[in-house]
Amino acid sequence: MKVVIFGGRGYMGQYFASLYPDALTPSVDIADSRDIADVLDTEKPDVVINCAGKTGRPNVDWCETHKQETIHSNVIGPLVLVEECGKRDVYLVHIGTGCVYSGNSSTPFTETDAPNFFGSFYSRSKGVIDQLLHDFPVLNIRLRMPFDGTSNERNLINKIKKYDRLLDTENSMTYIPDLLAAADTLIQKRATGPYNITNPGAITPFRIMELYKEIVDPSHTFALLKEEDLPEVASAGRSSCVLSGDKLASEGIVMKPVEDAFREALHTLKSAANS
Ligand SMILES: NC(=O)c1ccc[n+]([C@@H]2O[C@H](COP(=O)([O-])OP(=O)(O)OC[C@H]3O[C@@H](n4cnc5c(N)ncnc54)[C@H](OP(=O)(O)O)[C@@H]3O)[C@@H](O)[C@H]2O)c1
Repeated sequence: MKVVIFGGRGYMGQYFASLYPDALTPSVDIADSRDIADVLDTEKPDVVINCAGKTGRPNVDWCETHKQETIHSNVIGPLVLVEECGKRDVYLVHIGTGCVYSGNSSTPFTETDAPNFFGSFYSRSKGVIDQLLHDFPVLNIRLRMPFDGTSNERNLINKIKKYDRLLDTENSMTYIPDLLAAADTLIQKRATGPYNITNPGAITPFRIMELYKEIVDPSHTFALLKEEDLPEVASAGRSSCVLSGDKLASEGIVMKPVEDAFREALHTLKSAANS
């Protein structure tokens, strides 16, 4: 299986490159149809994985003030890939997000639910492309708040341990080792359509730090951030939602419950810190 990964140097791209070590990771603009056509015609891949996109630095607030760059990478680029891969009948995998919803565990969102969170430009850009992809034979991997036991600064655990105050809002989240196994299964089957890839259950950032305190650092301190106080620390809204894992389960793909996944990741972090 010949794999080309776009955005292969990014956070998610590096994980997919480790999943497929022989994959090519060309540095081209995914919105440039000529460059994309060149790569596809020269390399003739069986699978293209789109890990390119703008998530903003230090966070999605960046997208509020960089809307042109955001649609270039999050909307136009994926559309170019749909067109160029479609013309050549190349299987396209897109790394999408579940951050297009707002709601709690009483209403887990399925892959057929339309986006209902429009509080940030990042989420609006991702929601638009998510919906357009429905009409094409593309595997759209919808993950949320990825984490693992590494020291990577983008790992959710390492991100939120720097925050003084944390929301107690439940969310679906994605353990990266489980994500890679699930994605590989779907890719080998050439599955198409949207798939929520999040660990079963829901957890809150506040609870994650309670676990961090219990497992990694008993001296860690933090306080509660009330939802209504979020504008004090973020200029754009943040999606909070719980996704349904029923479609993934119907493929026979089992992910561990989210709290178990956090415990595993935190024990890995602790062992790495002690070694
Ligand atoms: N990390 C998360 O929490 C998360 C959660 C859910 C979904 N996702 C989705 O996963 C995808 C990857 O995110 P990530 O966290 O890996 O972001 P990342 O670390 O910023 O990586 C994205 C990579 O794509 C590149 N890129 C951006 N625009 C491009 C373009 N037009 N053409 C080619 N390459 C381009 C970036 O290069 P530059 O740095 O030079 O721009 C970067 O190397 C995104 O679509 C994101 O929405 C991420």
